[in-house]
Formats: sequence, structure tokens, C-alpha cells
Amino acid sequence: GLTTANALTRRPARTGAELTSEVPLPPPFQIPLPLPRTLRPVGTTGGTDHYAITQRETTAEIIPGVRTPLWTYDGTFPGPTIEARRGRPVTVTHRNELPVPTVVHLHGGRTPASSDGYPTDLVLPRDRPMEHPHAGMRDPRAVQTVLTRDYTFPTDQRPTMLWYHDHRMDYTAPAIWRGLAGMHVIRDDAEEALGLPAGPRELHLMIADRAFAADGTLHYPALRGRPGVQPEYEAGVLGDVILVNGAPWPVHEVDAARHRLRLLNASNARHYELEAVTDDGRRLELVQIGADQGLLANPVVHRTLPLAPAERYDVVVDFSGVRVGSRVRLVNRLGSGRTRAVMAFRVARRARDDSRVPRVLARDIPAWRRSDAVRVRDFSFRAGRMNGGHGWLIDGRPFDPARTDVTVRMGDVEVWRMVADVHHPVHLHLVGFKVLSRAGRRPHPHDAGLKDTISLRPGEAAEIITRFDGYRGRYLFHCHNAEHEDMGMMANLEVT
Ligand code: C2O
Ligand code: CU
Repeated sequence: GLTTANALTRRPARTGAELTSEVPLPPPFQIPLPLPRTLRPVGTTGGTDHYAITQRETTAEIIPGVRTPLWTYDGTFPGPTIEARRGRPVTVTHRNELPVPTVVHLHGGRTPASSDGYPTDLVLPRDRPMEHPHAGMRDPRAVQTVLTRDYTFPTDQRPTMLWYHDHRMDYTAPAIWRGLAGMHVIRDDAEEALGLPAGPRELHLMIADRAFAADGTLHYPALRGRPGVQPEYEAGVLGDVILVNGAPWPVHEVDAARHRLRLLNASNARHYELEAVTDDGRRLELVQIGADQGLLANPVVHRTLPLAPAERYDVVVDFSGVRVGSRVRLVNRLGSGRTRAVMAFRVARRARDDSRVPRVLARDIPAWRRSDAVRVRDFSFRAGRMNGGHGWLIDGRPFDPARTDVTVRMGDVEVWRMVADVHHPVHLHLVGFKVLSRAGRRPHPHDAGLKDTISLRPGEAAEIITRFDGYRGRYLFHCHNAEHEDMGMMANLEVT
């Protein structure tokens, strides 16, 4: 049956100083929640849906009265949502009209290496291909000189909400900050047969903090040379404005009924601990039905939910007991002042609700046991010296595309033991994993299900277990604090 999570006992360590916006900010819960548009295929051949996305600059009014230049997928931030069906492959042709090279990665995708967005597999800009000559120069063989690139996603994986974002070597953090992120949902018949809230009662929520400079541009520490040597960059960049689907502290009208909230933390470095609070101070249950890599076996009830960068949670919230006309606020317990508010739901009307949350959600979660593992590996995620300054390292080394750090055999089950000096959300490409232990004890309730990103806490050793399968080739694992990633905390994972 249901298990109830206790409030978390450990708080993440403070990340960097927060940037302060220099434009007048709107009060919370005034601006309607934008719903990203669903991208339509440009064609279909032999059961494969083809999409096309142009990466281009645009200007948007995120803060009322303020014009903000963005880098976008197809003109919006977030980019358009791709809706895929399990077993039905997708190709996406990305055309780069931005002034810089880019790389697209489908986060959480079970993707052949050639489409996984390796950090030096660039889509070059048309006009100024050499403006940023550094990227990829340490491994010139890997640089692809293309202005468009076809990414192929076989969609042979469990239904879940993935996201796509930039992944260029050394410059991922500023590219995501400027707007290069979108959602990608995979569905199947089995999930749809469960009767979960759907249609307008299923919301995709991309949460990301930003700051705005006086001229309306997104505030970001200036890049001076290599990212590795900048103190402003060191802990990760935080903004003082919380955006949901690109709008500051938005509000959304809902029926007094169950809603499925698919939460994504697309922030570069900010951690959240979310709770849903009514106007009269009641905390609504957050019924978790899914993790990064799809449905849980059974729902888990949380009072608060921690969200590290790149993590996703699929939760059901029941607004039926909330007074019509009142609000439910999504609050970030780790924020202070402005950054405590995230968004609000205004309960607009009573409504009939045929949805349900079955006690059994999925039966296909792998049952890997420690005894299945052919190998246990240890990794440390710690600060260290890099390029004559401060960097973030895995096992004492910064990322080098020319070095293979880990070679795994296709089909092997492995246990990875990881320790961190400060909070590092660690992401593995290609595979989903389960959290086996934290600090030698059982994982936390929010570690349930299949994950692709684990929130490593300071000083706490954690173990994950996975089976490497799918495709051979060169993949990555890295910290998903995007600034840490750019400052070296990434390594190559070769599947042979
Ligand atoms: Cu979301 Cu390697 O990244
Ligand atoms: Cu990190």
C-alpha cells in the first residue's frame, strides 16, 4: 500500500550567491501559466515521426514590460514539447541559427550514441562557425561540421517525461540559462489504461530560476576564458526569479479534482523542496506516481518533495477538498523571500472526477539485486584544481573527451558507489538505475523507482545499481549542476 515519507532531515548545502534582478518584478501568482505547445511532426515514414526544430534567437516578454533576448528551440522557452509513443521512433532535425555551436541531448533517453549529443558533436552555426573555436578542439576528430543534425530516438523505453537541452562542452550552463530546454513525453497504452488524471488535468511544469539585468537580458556571470577559473561560477548560478514554463511565479486555474503534475527541475543549480499549501495553511499530499524513468511500482505519499537539478517527479495532487475560489500555492521550502514562491493553482470550480491512482502502477521495474552485480565501482565527486583555478572533478580529474574513464560491458549489472563533497546531482546517460543505499542505510522515500539522476548529498555515500544495455558506444556521466558540469565534473562512459 501507500507509504508516507517523513520530512527530510538533511538540507542541501547552500549553493552560490543569488544574482539580483535589476528590473521591477511582478507580484507572484498574477501571470497565467504558459502551456508549451506540442510540436507537430513534419512527416511520417514507416512508423517513424519526423520533427524539425530551428534553434534561433528571439525576444520574449517574460517580465511584464521588459524585453528579454533568448536562445530558443523554435522560438519559445520552453521549447515545444515532443509527444512520443513507446515503440514508435522519432527523428528530430535541428537547424542551428544561433551565433554559437550547439549540441542537443535528450535527457533520460535510451539513445544510440550517435544521437546522444556528445559534447563535441556540434551543430555549427551558419555564419560564424569559428567564433567559439575552443569547443571540441581537444578532440578534433570528434568535431562534426554540420549546420543541421538529425537526432534519432528509437523510443524503446518506459513511458516518462524526458527533457532536451543543450550539452556543448564547457558551455552547457549558459546555453540552458539562455533558454535551450524543452520537454519530451513518452506514452503508452498501459499507462493510459490506468485512469490517471489526463488531458487538461495533466500539467508539464518546467521549473527554472533566472535573473534579469537592467537592460532586460538574462543576468549571467560573464565568461572570462575557460569556465573553470571563475569564482562567480563556482557554486552554480542562481537567480531570484522562479519561472514555471517560462513565466514568473505563474497561476493556473484548475477544477476541484485530481491533477497530474509532471515536475522538472530545469534550473542550473537551484534545489527545491516543494510543498502544496492551501490558503488556510493546509499541506496537500503529493502522491508520487513516477520518477525520472517512469511509473513507480506503487504510489508513495510525500508531504514535501526535494527536486535537484534535472530530476523529474510525477505526482498527483487532489484539489477536490479545496474551497472553490481559493488557491493552492506550490512553495519552495529551501527558498527565502521571493524564491519561496513557485506558482499557484486557483481552484475555479467543482467538477466531476473519474480519474484514479491505482495501488499498482507498474510491474516492469527491474529487480536487480546486489548479488547480480559483476562489479562495484567507486567514484568521488569533489572540488579540485583545474586550468590553474578551481574546478569540479570526478576521481580527481576534469572532463577530457580524449580519455575513456569507465568501460562497461553490455548487459552487465554494476553497483556504483559515489561520494560527494557538496551537493551534486549525478546523471548517467543511456540507463535508468535504482538507488540501493544512502550512508549505508535504505534509500529515502523520494529515491523510489527508476532514476537517471541521483541527488548526492554532502558527505553521504550513495550506491546505485543498474544494468548497462541498449546501445554500444561513448556516453557520459556527470554532475547536473550545469556550472559544475562545465567546470569539469563529467566523465566518459564507454559501453562495449
Ligand atoms: Cu541533462 Cu548529460 O544531461
Ligand atoms: Cu556538482
